[in-house]
Amino acid sequence: MVAPTYDALKLPPHVKTVLVSGAGGFVGQQLVQLLLSLFKDIKIIATDIVEPPNHGITDSKRLRCVKADLGKEAELKGLFDGEKVDGVFALHGVMSGGAEANFPLGYAVNVDSNLNLLKYTHTHAQSTLSEGDPRPIYVFVSSLAVYGGPKCRPQDYVVPKDTPIIPGSSYGVQKTIMELYVYDYGRKGYLNTRSVRLPTVAIRPGAPSSAASSFISGLIREPLQGVEAICPIASSLDDPALDDMPFWCSRTKTVVRNIAWALCMPESNFGEGEGRSINIPGIKVRPRQIVEALVEHGGKDKLSLVKFQKDQAVINICKTWAGEYDNTDFLKMGFEADDTETGFGLAVKDFKEELAKEASQT
Ligand SMILES: NC(=O)c1ccc[n+]([C@@H]2O[C@H](COP(=O)([O-])OP(=O)(O)OC[C@H]3O[C@@H](n4cnc5c(N)ncnc54)[C@H](O)[C@@H]3O)[C@@H](O)[C@H]2O)c1
Repeated sequence: MVAPTYDALKLPPHVKTVLVSGAGGFVGQQLVQLLLSLFKDIKIIATDIVEPPNHGITDSKRLRCVKADLGKEAELKGLFDGEKVDGVFALHGVMSGGAEANFPLGYAVNVDSNLNLLKYTHTHAQSTLSEGDPRPIYVFVSSLAVYGGPKCRPQDYVVPKDTPIIPGSSYGVQKTIMELYVYDYGRKGYLNTRSVRLPTVAIRPGAPSSAASSFISGLIREPLQGVEAICPIASSLDDPALDDMPFWCSRTKTVVRNIAWALCMPESNFGEGEGRSINIPGIKVRPRQIVEALVEHGGKDKLSLVKFQKDQAVINICKTWAGEYDNTDFLKMGFEADDTETGFGLAVKDFKEELAKEASQT
C-alpha cells in the first residue's frame, strides 16, 4: 500500500463524543487532526497533562481541550462531567526509555492512571447508559514492546499467535498489564474494548522522546534541520549492527489511520475466545536504510551530522525487540501496512513536507 485509505473509516452510529488522552503528544495530535477532518459531526474531548493544541478549532462543541493529569481523580472525572462519552482513545503514557529510567513514574502513568481512565469510563457508562445501549468503544494504545524473550530478537520473524508475551522492559510489562485489564473489561461486557500495539512510528517531529527507539526518527529529523544526531547502536558506518538490528516501523499517517480504524471496526473482528489485542502492521527497516534515506532526501553532507556513539542501555532495550512480525491476521481485519520498499522513504518525505510547511508559516 502506497498511501493509507480512509473510505472504510465510518464511526458506529452511537459514537457522538470521543475522548482522546495524550492529545498533546506526537501521535495524539495527529489522531485528533484526522478525527476532526474525517468526522465533522462528532465532539472530541482532547486531553493531556500539557495543554493540548486546538488545531485552530474554537467551537467547543467540536473540540474541547482540557489540560488534566489523569493520575488525579478529580481531574479525570472533570473530563466526563456533563458529557456522554461513547468512544475513548487512551494514548497517554511515559515512553520506553523513560519508564525504564523511572520505575515509579512508569507504573504511575502507564498502569495506574490508565487503569483509572478505563475504570472511570465504565463508571461513566453505567451512569449514562440504559439497558441494551451500545457500550462505549475503548481503544487502548499499546506497544509491540509487550513481546520479548527468546523468540523476539532483532533477527526473528514473529508469528503473533505462536509467540508468548514476555516483555523485555518495564514499559512492555506496563503495556501488558493494561492490555489484560482492557481485555477483561471487554470480556465482561463492561466496555467494547480493543488494544492496538504500535510499531515504532516514524518520523517523530519535535524534540526527541524518552523512547529507546527515539533515535530512529532522530537520525532523519536532526540532520535534516542541520543538527547532530547520535546513532546509539553502532560505532561507525562499517558497524554490522546497522544491518543486523532491524526495526519494525510504520509511517505516522498509516499508524494514525489504523488507530482510528480500531474504533470503527466491528467487535466481531475478534473471534470467540480470542484476545482483544491487535498488532498494528509495520515494515522491517534496517538502520543502514535510515542512513541511506537521510542521504537520499537530505544530501550526502548530512551524514557528517550523524555521530556513532554506542549506548549500552539503548542497545539492551533494542535487543529485546523483534525485527519482523507477521501482519497477515491484522491485514485481514482491515488494518493497513506501508509498502516494504517505499514506506520508510515516504515517511521521510512526509516529514520534509511538514518542515517546509512550518518554515513557510514563520
Ligand atoms: N511513538 C511511537 O513510536 C510509539 C510506539 C509504540 C507505542 N506508542 C504508544 O503510543 C502512545 C502515544 O505515543 P506518543 O509517541 O504520542 O507519545 P508522547 O510522549 O508524544 O505522548 C504521550 C502524552 O502523554 C501525556 N501524559 C503523560 N503523563 C500523563 C498524565 N499523567 N496525564 C495525562 N497525560 C499524560 C504526555 O504529556 C504526552 O503528551 C503511547 O501510549 C505510547 O506508549 C508509541
